[in-house]
Amino acid sequence: MSASKPNWWKASTCYQIWPASYKDTNGDGIGDIPGIISTLPYLKDLGVETIWLSPMYDSPQKDMGYDISNYEDVYPPYGTVADMDRLIKECHDRGMKLILDLVINHTSDQHAWFQESRKSKTNEYADWYVWRDPKIINGKRHPPSNWRSIFGGSAWEYCEERDQYYLHLFVKEQPDLNWENEEARKAIYKSAIEFWLNKGIDGFRVDACNLYSKDVLFPDAVTRLHGEEFQPAEDHYINGPRMHEWLREQRQQVLDKYGDILMVGELPFTEAAEVLKYVSAEARELSCVFDFDVVMLGTPNGGGGKKHHTVRHTLPQFKEAIRKVQHLIRGTDAWTTVFLENHDQGRSLSRFATDKPQWREKAAKMLAVLMCTLTGTLFLYQGQEIGMYNHPEHWGVEELRDIDSLNAYNDVKTRHKDDPLWLKKAMKGLQLVGRDNARLPVQWDASANAGFTTGKPWIRVHDDYEAVNVAAQRADPHSPLAFWKKMIALRKQHAELMVFGTDFEVWDFFDQDVFTFTKAHPDGHHKLFVFLNFSDDLQPLHYPHGLEGMKKELLVSNLRQGEEEVGRYLTPWEARVYLVRETVLNGY
Ligand code: GLC
Repeated sequence: MSASKPNWWKASTCYQIWPASYKDTNGDGIGDIPGIISTLPYLKDLGVETIWLSPMYDSPQKDMGYDISNYEDVYPPYGTVADMDRLIKECHDRGMKLILDLVINHTSDQHAWFQESRKSKTNEYADWYVWRDPKIINGKRHPPSNWRSIFGGSAWEYCEERDQYYLHLFVKEQPDLNWENEEARKAIYKSAIEFWLNKGIDGFRVDACNLYSKDVLFPDAVTRLHGEEFQPAEDHYINGPRMHEWLREQRQQVLDKYGDILMVGELPFTEAAEVLKYVSAEARELSCVFDFDVVMLGTPNGGGGKKHHTVRHTLPQFKEAIRKVQHLIRGTDAWTTVFLENHDQGRSLSRFATDKPQWREKAAKMLAVLMCTLTGTLFLYQGQEIGMYNHPEHWGVEELRDIDSLNAYNDVKTRHKDDPLWLKKAMKGLQLVGRDNARLPVQWDASANAGFTTGKPWIRVHDDYEAVNVAAQRADPHSPLAFWKKMIALRKQHAELMVFGTDFEVWDFFDQDVFTFTKAHPDGHHKLFVFLNFSDDLQPLHYPHGLEGMKKELLVSNLRQGEEEVGRYLTPWEARVYLVRETVLNGY
């Protein structure tokens, strides 16, 4: 299969919805499925073709729905299974697709399977989770290994009924399923996957999809955090020995019955060669993955609770991360994705560009140019289309709701005994990369609570909603929203270069302010030149050697049309894209 084979999902423009913060219709302060349905015309008009809905399953919400207690039911504040049936139909009626989150590395501790499993060592579900005996040292009980949970603390929790520990790579209310058990795997396929595919959904975003296979000997991890009891143990649970076998089993036994299903996996901490094993078309495991190199820039890997050590990355690091993802498909049969945001990240405008008031609008459009000219399946996150940005620096910890952020903050607080400078540092890191940044309510209009709810929102609305909202931007032809719509349409029009162009070259790797790249398609004849200014200053352009004077067509720029014209230099946060036709290139 070649990179340009037209699977429906390759050129699809996808949009992630985080249900709790999207749109509330019943005034309980929490978004809901009828709210999503009410906005489908808006999304369709924007050019969205596929919706990825984050977990709407029944859940005690210890980790915002990534702790599922019943795969076959819906969290009541979001709605019912009947609402989901309607959402599927309403999407399909508009020619749109719908994918759901597939969270099967773990369940909630309230899931019936775990409730049974924890009762004894001999019941029918006893082996469906990862149970191990305590380690006894000097007569004292210890966890089976020193593994650290991704969200901090030990990755093991003791259970008296069994006098054993169970593994939880995330919070203790998220026990890891035992994928080694074939019966458990079959039950997962049936309940989490087939139940929804039978209802007609078009695929899944696969949560934590390289974590299922652990080193079953559970050796202690080497000490990387000196003086700490629990150590990051990724080497023992990421891309484990049976991952590929199980993903192929799932494809052959389950997915193949349903046609061209999109399976987009979350794949953190994985080298390019390893990523290829998951996404090469021949392997038939996943359709494509979210590679995390870009969104993890500046953050310490995998240790959990270390967000205060996050630093700003440099532009060359950003280019290198993008280059890795773009080159994944060069000369291979694999496919890739384009994304800068999701529900686990700070907003892209604040992290990768600027949220300074004078440049926000232009910088949001600049990022739209970047994303729409990169190869792969495009994923936008709710609110990104209007340029939502991180919460203000003055917000205190009392506004935060995310368990990961709160654990990180409380860890610093305990260790450093409430030292105000340490707490300031903790908040600084969270303001940049904390997950709540992406979880603030979508700003629909300038009415109370940004039109998100008529009740009390479950999390504070951004202070700036009167200036940044959908209604205002719909009425403004120069808005980021209007620009995104234009860019999405342009991407479709030039799909050969923008969506499928596999020849991606960076021309100014070491430049700290400007990002210049070209795109071409191996079977095509034209080239795209993309110039992006990531600074507050005027910048010269880097033309690939010898091409400065060539004849080129300006396809798009983020300057205000009719008011500004592109000049000799790039103005602050300017983006422009030129098309150079074959006839011109032949001369060089
Ligand atoms: C993934 C999700 C994240 C969640 C975690 C545990 O990383 O994106 O939100 O907390 O898995 O399910």
